[in-house]
Amino acid sequence: MEFAVKVGAPLKQKIGCLILPVYESGKISDQTKKLDAHLATQVLSVIKKGDIEGKISQTFLFHPSLSQSGSSEKFERVLLVGCGKLRTLTDYEYKEIITASTCALKKTHSAEAYSYLAELDVQNRDIAWKIKCATELMRELDYEFTDFKTKKSHTPKIKRLRKFYWMIYNKKELYKSEVALEQAVAISDGVSLTKDLGNTPANICTPSYLAQKAEELAKLHKKGNKISVAILEAKEIKALKMGSFLSVTQGSPEAPKLITLSYRGAKKKEDKPIVLVGKGITFDTGGNSLKPPTSMIGMKFDMCGAATVMGVMHAAASLQLPINIIGVIPSCENIPGGKATRPDDIVTSMSGITIEIANTDAEGRLILCDALTYCERYHPEVVIDIATLTGACIVALGGQASAVMSNYQPLANDLLKAGQTSLDRAWQLPIWEEYQLQLKSPVADLCNIGGPEAGSITAACFLANFTKNFHWAHLDVAGTAARYCGDKKGATGRPVPMLMQYLINKAEK
Ligand code: BES
Ligand code: MN
Ligand code: ZN
Repeated sequence: MEFAVKVGAPLKQKIGCLILPVYESGKISDQTKKLDAHLATQVLSVIKKGDIEGKISQTFLFHPSLSQSGSSEKFERVLLVGCGKLRTLTDYEYKEIITASTCALKKTHSAEAYSYLAELDVQNRDIAWKIKCATELMRELDYEFTDFKTKKSHTPKIKRLRKFYWMIYNKKELYKSEVALEQAVAISDGVSLTKDLGNTPANICTPSYLAQKAEELAKLHKKGNKISVAILEAKEIKALKMGSFLSVTQGSPEAPKLITLSYRGAKKKEDKPIVLVGKGITFDTGGNSLKPPTSMIGMKFDMCGAATVMGVMHAAASLQLPINIIGVIPSCENIPGGKATRPDDIVTSMSGITIEIANTDAEGRLILCDALTYCERYHPEVVIDIATLTGACIVALGGQASAVMSNYQPLANDLLKAGQTSLDRAWQLPIWEEYQLQLKSPVADLCNIGGPEAGSITAACFLANFTKNFHWAHLDVAGTAARYCGDKKGATGRPVPMLMQYLINKAEK
């Protein structure tokens, strides 16, 4: 399906489904009144009959009758959408309205749709935001993962729609609306890629598979020749002295990979890059510190940080953002075996810092610390790591917000702000020096766990020891990147929207 923005005059347009807001106590918008008198009468009569009250997320579909003047028959269908009382909406209410209208539209056989919902009044949001938010949401509602279904589902898809138009009133807002739409489509494509990778199970989505997908991504964008890929094998990882990363892969027959993707979009090649590091544990059993069976379910999602990096690279390259971005993905599997790391083992990281591994299930930080040290060679402007790092993060913030922790407050602020705009939100946790006390080891420089208190913070504090030479933020996305069980089990594609908003803001500066 294609999206487009159109200004004014719907009556000159072809057949399709017209999507109109209606409000509580029987009100319709002035715009609906202006649209077509005959149609407005019909809408008012539908409301009068009580088929729709106008409460938020109610919908009602009808086939308008022909008018004498021959105008409203141009629309095969009219979908009325309840938008509550005629007043300013919250972000949440707006999303509810878009969701309801999309679900209702899916059930119709429309080939085209013209929606007036982007002109709803949402507090402190402009038309560009409303179109971007609603388009991403519609794409979200259309996502399905059917790669492994032999019978494809018959759930209605908005894909049957050829074209979806956001109707706007003001011609002056057309350009920024179209820019917003283009961004939304690119971000949705990135989100879908991230979801697909996350949802693919670990017997298929191995480190080698991720490496292959990274190469495919570079080929996909070969037109601009702007993405390049390098894949380091175990031998080279060893040569880099990444003893901490390698300790995690020891028990697995799958070969570890260190994948780097580089996107050069800046006018000046030498512009300092923004480096994204993604945790790529393709399956996390816990290793010798084995997880109980129920906690192991959904651990195929432990590479969602890596998938996020790939989704962001894809979206940023599609939009040709004028910045340089490097993605670093340490990827391996964490499983027990005769060669697997034992609790009590001591390893030496690439930085030289020695680590006592008290729990092999705290493996994310072990692969990330070496990847973070590796980032120094890029002289980054900032480094942001994305990781499904701690169960404690799910306890603290649930599925609503990613945790952000940073050694540079302006970077944390930028991410928090990008989260507010994209509604892919984050919440900051502190990483005060005092927490480092919990990571003391009697035998090594650091211990890889910090005890039961403040688990997300001590995980970040562990990483902070390896990021002293650059501005760094850590996103713990354990709660936001996936739902681990139940009906809605699946990758969410978060925090691709937040990071894309951050990069778009950067590119505009
Ligand atoms: N991948 C997990 C974190 C996780 C748990 C993500 C649940 C998503 C859902 C991570 O590797 C892990 O096992 N963390 C441990 C750390 C502990 C041993 C200090 C945890 O959170 O229990
Ligand atoms: Mn683990
Ligand atoms: Zn893990």
